[in-house]
Amino acid sequence: MTQTTGQHPHDEDQPEHGHGHGGDQHGQHASEEWGRDYWEDRYSAPGLQWSGRPNPVLVDEASGLEPGRVLDVGSGEGGDAIWLAGRGWQVTAIDIAQAALDKAAARAAEVDEAAAARITWEQHDLAVWAPAPGSVDLVSSQFMHLADPVRAALFRSLAEAVAPGGTLLVVGHDLSDLAAGAGRHGKEELMFTIEDVLAAVPDDGWTVEVAESRARQVLATDGGTTTVRDVVVKATRAS
Ligand SMILES: C[S@@+](CC[C@H](N)C(=O)[O-])C[C@H]1O[C@@H](n2cnc3c(N)ncnc32)[C@H](O)[C@@H]1O
Repeated sequence: MTQTTGQHPHDEDQPEHGHGHGGDQHGQHASEEWGRDYWEDRYSAPGLQWSGRPNPVLVDEASGLEPGRVLDVGSGEGGDAIWLAGRGWQVTAIDIAQAALDKAAARAAEVDEAAAARITWEQHDLAVWAPAPGSVDLVSSQFMHLADPVRAALFRSLAEAVAPGGTLLVVGHDLSDLAAGAGRHGKEELMFTIEDVLAAVPDDGWTVEVAESRARQVLATDGGTTTVRDVVVKATRAS
């Protein structure tokens, strides 16, 4: 699927568009620089950081699933959580930033009161907190970027959280975007590949439904357009 320029919630999700953090050129690792303070600061700014809409890949990949319990990790301003709850999912939305969760809860109550009642907002640092194994029917991780080795542990814990018959959906910026002219330099540590996600999916008892680098068009730093790619991995656990 290719999307048209400007329609995606994450065209400008990179730290240099935030509050003056400029990547890891000062010798800090991305994981240290873009921790809770960075995100609290960013979400404390007025207005929305993202589009408020659900991520298109989530809509494409989850629309056909039977609603159950879902964990939305790195839930941000709640666009995905609100959409999922609106479809009947019982949502647990996790984010490191309390400011994001507060904003998301307020938006949910405003746009869909019934959906809002199906969402639990929880502040956790996914670098140190793991969901209960086998506890949900869908795990959705949309543009939740952590550096290795924490990322590998996160992906494993997300796969473990999927109950029998459930689905793991991981979406994020493909490492190949570094060459796309979309302003992703300085975040090499945070970006990942299909293989990074698949490494967390056990060989036995799982079916990989989707494992691709999905292209879409975004604005380039030179003012033109460029093609970027999102890692999309969707895997289901046997019942
Ligand atoms: C690029 S945003 C994506 C937000 C949302 N998933 C979306 O697609 O609109 C990344 C989100 O991950 C959250 N995050 C970053 N590091 C985290 C961590 N260690 N634990 C939990 N959440 C984290 C940020 O606060 C932010 O909301």
